[in-house]
Amino acid sequence: MRKRLLSEGAKELSYEIREIVKKADQLHDLGLPIHWENIGDPIEKGCQVPAWIKDILTKLVNENRSYGYCPSKGVLKTREFLAAQTNRIGGAQITANDILFFNGLGDAIATVYGLLAMTSRIIGPSPAYSTHSSAEASHAHTTPITYRLDPENHWYPDLEELENNIKYNPNIVAILIINPDNPTGMVYPLEYLKKIVDIARRYHLFILCDEIYNKIVYNGARAYALAEYIEDVPGIALKGISKEYPWPGARCGWAEYYNRSLDPEFDLFCRAIDNAKMIEVCSTTMPQLTIPKVLGDKRFAAHRTQLNELIGRRSSIISEILSEVPELNFNPTYGAFYNTITFKEGVLSNTQTLKIENPLIREKVEKWCEGVSLDYRFVYYLLGATGICVVPSSSFCSELQGFRVTLLEEDEDELRNVFSTMRDAIRSYVKSDKNK
Ligand SMILES: Cc1ncc(COP(=O)(O)O)c(C=O)c1O
Repeated sequence: MRKRLLSEGAKELSYEIREIVKKADQLHDLGLPIHWENIGDPIEKGCQVPAWIKDILTKLVNENRSYGYCPSKGVLKTREFLAAQTNRIGGAQITANDILFFNGLGDAIATVYGLLAMTSRIIGPSPAYSTHSSAEASHAHTTPITYRLDPENHWYPDLEELENNIKYNPNIVAILIINPDNPTGMVYPLEYLKKIVDIARRYHLFILCDEIYNKIVYNGARAYALAEYIEDVPGIALKGISKEYPWPGARCGWAEYYNRSLDPEFDLFCRAIDNAKMIEVCSTTMPQLTIPKVLGDKRFAAHRTQLNELIGRRSSIISEILSEVPELNFNPTYGAFYNTITFKEGVLSNTQTLKIENPLIREKVEKWCEGVSLDYRFVYYLLGATGICVVPSSSFCSELQGFRVTLLEEDEDELRNVFSTMRDAIRSYVKSDKNK
């Protein structure tokens, strides 16, 4: 090529949640059955979408308008419905014009970070859902700026570190909150959210809040929506149907802009996001048409409650099995459907192994382990020895050594079996250290 093709930021793009699949597939081809604990797709794990939701879709499939483009910002009736839902909370008030539809939040995230000036930064949690941290790093052509979620304190954010980072880095223009959180399963207490809003107000920042798991809470938790606590600070909430219906294959999510009239520069930013979608024409029409019918249906709340109870039950089973392992930092979860479990400091080493009978699998795992961080090493051995596929926590923009699991296994016996096998593997892995 006459000139370099790739932008500097491209090397920051990585998504281990799917990368690990390539490795697991190689082992599967060698005859190893895989237990997928890597990806947050309830459908893949056997969750059944209720018949009444499928009926709504079937009717729409038979309507001709479902096949057309829709307005660039999204179907007007749907945006009116969503604006009314948000306004009912009683906090920030919006109109249909403050809502913009995307082809899933993946699209929204790429657009929002992509339009930021290269030197302007959004500080995000660590660990963080990698789509955010990769997009931020890619736009800035450097590593992300983060604040720590503390595994020793229920994964709540270290607010002092957050404020110090903001104070000493004038390029930070916004704070990212993921609530409920992926990958930790933590739900932010209201007092923390209010303190974050206070920091944003004092340093003239906006808040970007990913609320894709807003309705997925259990074990008595409540997830507060940004609209409820943002008061007079500019903000963008990101919402979607991937996890709530669940319908991740719909590729449908939306952004809600709060308080844009209070800050002209923030308003311009929101307009630019709208314009970017206009250039693309619009997002997928049919999933948007389902929203008032599904979220407005009396059966939806009961449907979500039932699914949440099941996730809460799985969360308790996993706690029962893993919380007693002394080498782990284990936090029970309250929202979303993940848990990140870390090893206590000094537990992992680069000589630990698990027994792998098949020599071809062993050879591959040994090769993959060359020069990788200690949590990747554990994850590869766990995969090779047991077929359990989890995601290393250092791939979530974090230095913590651990791994993320999902809480999606529908079959309770299989769930107990997978997590008991994992516990036993952890025990033998940490004891296998030749140097101890
Ligand atoms: C926190 C978070 N935000 C956004 C997404 C992406 O959602 P979508 O399916 O709408 O692209 C995910 C998917 O796992 C997620 O966990």
